[in-house]
Amino acid sequence: MTASPDYQAILETIAAKVRPLAAQGRVADYIPELAKVPADKFAMAVHTLDGRRFAVGDADERFSIQSISKLFTLLMALRMKKETLWQRVGREPSGNPFNSLVQLEHEQGIPRNPFINAGALVITDVLCRHFVQADRAVLEFLRRLSGATDLNFDSAVAESEAEHGYRNAAMANFIKSFGNLDSPVDTVLQSYFRQCAVRMSCQELATAGLLLANHGTVPASGEALLTPSEAKRINAILLTCGTYDAAGDFAFRVGLPAKSGVGGGILAILPGELAVAVWSPALDENGNSLAGAMALEHFTTLTGRSVF
Ligand code: DON
Repeated sequence: MTASPDYQAILETIAAKVRPLAAQGRVADYIPELAKVPADKFAMAVHTLDGRRFAVGDADERFSIQSISKLFTLLMALRMKKETLWQRVGREPSGNPFNSLVQLEHEQGIPRNPFINAGALVITDVLCRHFVQADRAVLEFLRRLSGATDLNFDSAVAESEAEHGYRNAAMANFIKSFGNLDSPVDTVLQSYFRQCAVRMSCQELATAGLLLANHGTVPASGEALLTPSEAKRINAILLTCGTYDAAGDFAFRVGLPAKSGVGGGILAILPGELAVAVWSPALDENGNSLAGAMALEHFTTLTGRSVF
């Protein structure tokens, strides 16, 4: 292993390069409340397993984590269900948009993977059967992993999505018709919208991601939440499915397991070394942060580090 890169200098170089790119993307507006976030926000944070932290931009400002929550709900469901989880959700890339319904009909209501909306609804159903208040359990899990005890939901975002969430509602009903949801559709949807509406900063996301860099053990507490094999598998699904139908291009450009959200955040993992979170609200056509993906591409280029 070569000497540690100068992460702070690299983050500052990246910020200068990618900030202007936000003008080429679009802030998500299908959840009207998200459209209010200024497109020119930018933040990036790197937390290493040896305890160093680097950041640039609005790295302590919280934003809507949206689909990044799907990573953490998967961790919770996997801990409960172990191998049996894969009877209800697959682990293949979908090659379709994150909110697509098309494969469900031919594939008997078994979503392709836990990171598209359909898969995350099934995962949320697992949590709804286990916890009286699944959304609170997810919030507590995120507080525990990030160390930020004051994390919370943005109720305005959750309600805004619930009002306009026809597609997710269609999906949940469709999955239910195949018998792959146990709880009432509305219970699952309400929990799902609230999980997506948790607000976290890049610093908090990077801390929360460290357990996946550390083979399943939370570095701060020494708690082994996943086995090394489970952590390896989650990282593999992040690489192949974490950025939807752009996952191939993202792996090609960036070379890190990562999960994106339509709030403009992306959390990426370099196993054995670090977690890196980036936020820029303007999205590309696949729903991934445009400047955020470019920032991660520069990050692996300039540090010379990736999983490959
Ligand atoms: O269900 C939705 O559409 C949103 N709550 C989350 C989608 C999302 O973040 C997709 N990510 N890029």
